[in-house]
Amino acid sequence: MNSPIGIFDSGVGGTSIWKEISGLLPDEDTVYLADGSNAPYGEKSPEEILRLSIKNTELLLEKGCKLIVVACNTATTTAIDHLRAHYKIPFIGIEPAIKPAALKTKTKKVGVLATKGTLASSLFHSTSKLHASGIQILEQEGTGLVDLIESGEVNAKATYELLQKYLSPMLDDGIDCLVLGCTHYPYLIPQIQKIIPPTITIIDSGEAVARQTKAILEQYQLCNTTGNKPAFHQFFTNRDVTVLNGFVGDQAQTFFMDF
Ligand code: DGL
Repeated sequence: MNSPIGIFDSGVGGTSIWKEISGLLPDEDTVYLADGSNAPYGEKSPEEILRLSIKNTELLLEKGCKLIVVACNTATTTAIDHLRAHYKIPFIGIEPAIKPAALKTKTKKVGVLATKGTLASSLFHSTSKLHASGIQILEQEGTGLVDLIESGEVNAKATYELLQKYLSPMLDDGIDCLVLGCTHYPYLIPQIQKIIPPTITIIDSGEAVARQTKAILEQYQLCNTTGNKPAFHQFFTNRDVTVLNGFVGDQAQTFFMDF
C-alpha cells in the first residue's frame, strides 16, 4: 500500500524515531509533523496534550497516512488510548524503555530522564510497576532540555550544564542504566557521554519503535509493495525550518506550515 506513514512529535525530537523507521523500512514514504510552536508538550496539561495529539492525527489523516507513529513519549503516555479508540488506523507509540533497563541493570538502580508529563502519566507508572519490581527507578524531569533542542542548542554550554545538574544525583545514587524517555534526548547523547562514565548503559526506544512499526505494517498488510523508490519524505514544521533542516539533512523535503 503506497500511502505514507505519519509521524508526529512536539517538534524535532521525533526525527530520531523517523531515522530508525526510514532506515528499517526504506520503501516507505513518510509525512512528519513537528509541532514545535506548541513545544514543550511535557509541561502542558493532559487535556491540552490530548487536544494537540488529535489535531496532529487529523492532519496526518488528511494527508492520507495509513498508520501513525506517535513519536513522542509525552503524547503516547497521555493520548494513545484515546487515539486508538477513536480512529480506525493503527497507532504505534513510544514509552520509556523501562523493561530492557530492568533486565540489564546489575545495581538494580535505573535512571529515567523524561518530561514532566511522561513521568506523571499513569501509563509510565503501570509500566514501571509491571516490569521493574525490585528495581529502584530514579526519575528526573528534563525541564528546559526540549526548549534548548528546539532552539538548535544541542551542543550549547547551557545544555551541558542542565544535563550535568539533572544527571549528577542519579550518578551519585549508583545507577548503571539511563533511560532516555523523550524522543528529543537521543540528540543529547554526545553531551551525556561527557558527563556519565562509559559503564552506564544509555537506553532509548527508537529501534524498538521501528521494529514494531514494521511488524504492524506486515500484520495489517500495509507494506508498500509497489517498488516505488526512492521513498518520499515530507516534513512540516510550524516553528523553524532551519532548525528542522539541521536534524533531517537533505534526504527530506521540509516545509513551514501553520498548523
Ligand atoms: N519529544 C517528546 C517526548 O518524547 C516531547 C517533549 C516535549 O515536548 O516536552 O516526550
